[in-house]
Amino acid sequence: MFQTAFLTRKRRRPDINFTQVHEEVKFRDVTLYLVEKRMGKSRRNFLTNLARSKGFLVENMLSGHVTHVVSEGNAPQELWNWLEEQNLREPHNKHVLNISWFTESMSAGEPVPLEMRHYILNPAAERKLCPSPSSKPMSTVSPYACQRRTTIENHNKVFTDALEVIAESSEFSGNQGSCLAFRRAASVLKSLPVALKCTEDTQHLPGLGEHSKAIIEEIFECGASLKAQEILRDERYRTMKLFSSVFGVGPKTAESWYYRGLRTFEDVLTEPTIKLNRMQTAGFMFYEDISKPVSRSEAYALKTIVEEAVTCVNSSASVNVIGGFRRGKEFGHDVDFIIRVPEPGQEDGLLSAVIDRFKSQNILLYSDFQESTFDLRRLPNRRFEAMDHFQKCFLILKLKRDQVTDIRSIDEVRERFQCRDWRAVRVDLVAPPIERYAYALLGWTGSTLFERDLRRFARLERGKLLDNHVLYDKATKTFLPADTEEDIFAHLGLEYIEPLQRNA
Ligand code: CTP
Ligand code: MN
Ligand code: MN
Repeated sequence: MFQTAFLTRKRRRPDINFTQVHEEVKFRDVTLYLVEKRMGKSRRNFLTNLARSKGFLVENMLSGHVTHVVSEGNAPQELWNWLEEQNLREPHNKHVLNISWFTESMSAGEPVPLEMRHYILNPAAERKLCPSPSSKPMSTVSPYACQRRTTIENHNKVFTDALEVIAESSEFSGNQGSCLAFRRAASVLKSLPVALKCTEDTQHLPGLGEHSKAIIEEIFECGASLKAQEILRDERYRTMKLFSSVFGVGPKTAESWYYRGLRTFEDVLTEPTIKLNRMQTAGFMFYEDISKPVSRSEAYALKTIVEEAVTCVNSSASVNVIGGFRRGKEFGHDVDFIIRVPEPGQEDGLLSAVIDRFKSQNILLYSDFQESTFDLRRLPNRRFEAMDHFQKCFLILKLKRDQVTDIRSIDEVRERFQCRDWRAVRVDLVAPPIERYAYALLGWTGSTLFERDLRRFARLERGKLLDNHVLYDKATKTFLPADTEEDIFAHLGLEYIEPLQRNA
């Protein structure tokens, strides 16, 4: 049912519409509806004709096609009560706007970009967003990372670097709440199109607690965060950072090593009571290589290798880069790939065959293969950070020097390969069933904070549960189908955010 409504909404309107026959429609992504209540019939007629003469499509009826609802003079509660009485299936898929957006668009002769100040928010939803009944003006930055566009260009690096060091130090102390608060604050600053100029610039930003604001203020006053500098000198932080930089060593293990008095890799490797697992052993064995960032050219050289192996096993399968490289990053700690198979069930046995192939090519240095445990009957999963159930593997592969064709300079070659003709690289592969592909693609593209906020938004604002496998509507108790990432954003009533803008 939803699917049908959604498809008809997406399909563009026919050129001739019985409500608008004479004027040419210039802006096909915008379909207006003007609320007559309080505006009055004659003003509504006048504004309708004005908009149509400028090439806007204006509907007389509030239908599923309408994208922008414009109201004048109605109190938000009154307007939303009225909207809810109209029995629209998806009222949250529409922008509900005050007349200012309309008049600005008329004088610009085109739809002006939407800003928060244009919106008439549902007071019920707004109470959820800002629990304190303050009279602060509405911020133009969304508190949800999935409603912000965050490219890799960061205009506030001095602030975000400090906030992230402090976040990491909280994480190392097991203080997840404060870690997340500092990460959120950094993420909001990363989304800003310009650098902060003074402390007051943070006043109307969402998600910045007193602690984060104090850090920013200190940077404005002293040029640096003394707290972050102190952390960077702290022995515990430095040791935890060093240990957890090893593949297979998480904060818990790092902490236990620290408390046993160990401070260096040599301490760990010569301590007889320490038993390393297989992953940690590989982590130490290839530490020098895998602690070096992987460049884009190396990532794409690996794509060729993975593609060759995958299509050798299944000629109709294809490979896509995901993770940080899909978001446009120049360097990563690993390379993530998703494998797409066109038919349900074709993914069975695929990854183990691919791994065997790497083995026979003598490029497999380490492999942790996880068979699929995907079972739709056990979903949705209410746990936030639960690992997904798809068939996947965490690998270390040999990348040969001559396989990287577009390395930029000979220095890069020397630096990355030292004297060997290969280097070790961490590679993640995931192979979901085709009907779960869009969800897996969205989940594995990241960033982690972007994904976290998508889930939080779905749950708190839409009553839906999202994870790497499904989107579940609690109201109708149904799983919502999606072929593309765009479908998922549309189900959530969110504007589509490109992968390049998901670096929250
Ligand atoms: N991911 C996931 N399930 C896993 C592993 C990873 O959903 N079992 C997701 C993570 O949440 C992240 C994305 O896959 O959003 C990529 O993970 P990772 O490689 O750790 O991070 P990147 O963003 O690629 O960062 P980097 O460039 O450092 O590799
Ligand atoms: Mn990655
Ligand atoms: Mn990864």
